[in-house]
Amino acid sequence: MKKTFYLTTPIYYPSDNLHIGHTYTTVAADSIKRYKKLQGYDVFFTTGSDEHGQKIQEKAQENNMTPKAYVDKIVADIKDLWKMLEIDYDSFIRSTDEHHEKAIADIFTKLYEKGEIYKDQYEGAYCTPCESFWAESQLVDGNKCPDCGRETHLEKEEAYFFKLSKYRDKLLKLYEDNPGFIQPESRKNEMINNFLKDGLDDLSVSRSSFDWGIKVPFDDKHVVYVWIDALSCYLTALGYGTDNEENFNKFWPADVHLVGKEIVRFHTIIWPAILMALDLPLPKKVFGHGWILFDDDKMSKSKGNIIYPEPIIDLYGIDAFKYFLLREFSFGQDGSFSREKFLQRLNSDLANDLGNLVSRTVSMVEKYNDGILPSPKKTEEIDDSLIQMATGTVHKVDAFMENLNFSNALEEVWKLIRRTNKYVDETMPWKEENADRLDTILYNLSESLRIVSILIKPFMVMTSDEIRKQLGIDEEVVWDNAKEWGLLIEGTKVKKGGIIFPRLDIQAELERLNNANNALIEKRMAAKNANKPEEKAVVAEAAEETEEEELITIDDFAKVKFKVAKVVACEDHPKADKLLVLTLKVGDEERQVVSGIKQWYAPEDLIGKKVIVVANLKPVKLRGIESRGMILAAQDADGKLTLLSTLEDIEDGATVS
Ligand code: MSP
Repeated sequence: MKKTFYLTTPIYYPSDNLHIGHTYTTVAADSIKRYKKLQGYDVFFTTGSDEHGQKIQEKAQENNMTPKAYVDKIVADIKDLWKMLEIDYDSFIRSTDEHHEKAIADIFTKLYEKGEIYKDQYEGAYCTPCESFWAESQLVDGNKCPDCGRETHLEKEEAYFFKLSKYRDKLLKLYEDNPGFIQPESRKNEMINNFLKDGLDDLSVSRSSFDWGIKVPFDDKHVVYVWIDALSCYLTALGYGTDNEENFNKFWPADVHLVGKEIVRFHTIIWPAILMALDLPLPKKVFGHGWILFDDDKMSKSKGNIIYPEPIIDLYGIDAFKYFLLREFSFGQDGSFSREKFLQRLNSDLANDLGNLVSRTVSMVEKYNDGILPSPKKTEEIDDSLIQMATGTVHKVDAFMENLNFSNALEEVWKLIRRTNKYVDETMPWKEENADRLDTILYNLSESLRIVSILIKPFMVMTSDEIRKQLGIDEEVVWDNAKEWGLLIEGTKVKKGGIIFPRLDIQAELERLNNANNALIEKRMAAKNANKPEEKAVVAEAAEETEEEELITIDDFAKVKFKVAKVVACEDHPKADKLLVLTLKVGDEERQVVSGIKQWYAPEDLIGKKVIVVANLKPVKLRGIESRGMILAAQDADGKLTLLSTLEDIEDGATVS
């Protein structure tokens, strides 16, 4: 039976479209999968989306969508991106998948029944206007709220806790017994010094202040709070907790979890502790990679410096993009993306080095031997150094790949490519008068390129295939064939194809790239605007889904309390472009509602108007401001929106039924 290998990426938050930083992890994982497969492993690769939580709930409300409809759209974009990049994943787990939700509810119950989870008061710095607890490390200027800047105070809330504290010594032992568990090594020291040295606190694992999450099965005021939900996806992606645990039994424990440096803590402290509590085997390795910055700065929407992968792939192809990510940055460390660096590498490594070698090798076989590969006949000393390097490179690549050092692994391949180009310059086939010697040179060049085509296959599938096509090789890539010299068969017909990487005019391309990225940003902003058909379609789809899937009973309907409300005040939300904050008089009561209707109404248009409000909706916070209820609006297929009211005037507070 084949040896198995299970690898994972984090499940991404579908709060917004993914950028080049997220793509980095997935591209790395894809290359590992392909590499391990070539080595004969039976590989399972999981990625997915982390869809619950307050942030997503707020985003959806800002966009007048249900959380599910909101994430559906972004998850579809994420899947399109992986398709575009030909990411070869085996499972895409969504934390809203039914089998995942059920497994999490079971895991939570199991931990509770085992006494690993208990109910207590959560005490922390609380900001009343924002209705948020903040960790000490998040507070600004002493004890001020990082969102609104106001003073916080200590407050208690009921929550469930996981007994993380009791695992401290076991975790230290795990690190000591398994030196490779956390990589790179420096991240292990960070974990010990920053989190374990002085003891561990128990972890709050439920929330009752929002409800977009998996309900705690035995206490439905609470939802499971992120990490148990998110981390356990690595189990549920394999079918854990379902009737079919075949993959789970076959592939668990994970061989490697690839994660960004800021979530190493969750994967190396919380995750092994949860697994220990569940009596499950622990993953073998967590690799915390660095971040991709843009011009040395963190990418963020507010800074307007997000780099999306799609325009780069559109303009230069998957392989150029993947090669750059894996070659340019040292996987364990931060690195700075710049378009100049990308284009320069395209010109130097891909067009000049690899592209040139392919084109001159095939052209010379065509020109000097009618496109028929000759056999080697007359060797010279200079050939030996090429042959030795060509057959030795695979061992170096293997050694670097063992440590997930993609950059050095690729550099080794490029050393061989550059060496082979140098061999052309040294042997000067165009001046060679001895036919046997010329045959040998042509053979050696082609053979070296064959080895290159194997070594780049995990990282650049299409380029590898194209080189092999031009060399006339039909068979599948076999990794071990990179260790042997002389496997190309005399008489093979080579065939020149197009230029695999054309040289680019950097200045012109810089502009093209920049424009393409900006165009995509604009397109996405426009699509978010509810007037645009793309978004309407999603809302309509979601509505259709509900209609088809589930009819509600009169009792269900009676659960919703609608009231007539009078708008007594209205202003722009201080921190969101699309939101208005309305003060509503509902009979004797006043309540504040945040609504995503700013693009259709100015605050002054609404004051004095009567609207219909859903009065028994659980309060939520939208960008730091509490919203108690939702006002009803109708929207047509062109995106036109109007608020609902009554035909005749009626007192506010009147019941709608
Ligand atoms: N949902 C959690 C992960 C749960 S896993 C059980 C999460 N999601 S995330 O979308 O915010 O981030 C996903 C991954 O993308 C993280 O590993 C993060 O480090 C990575 N990256 C986000 N921005 C990045 C860069 N700029 N550069 C490299 N990786 C980055 O965290």
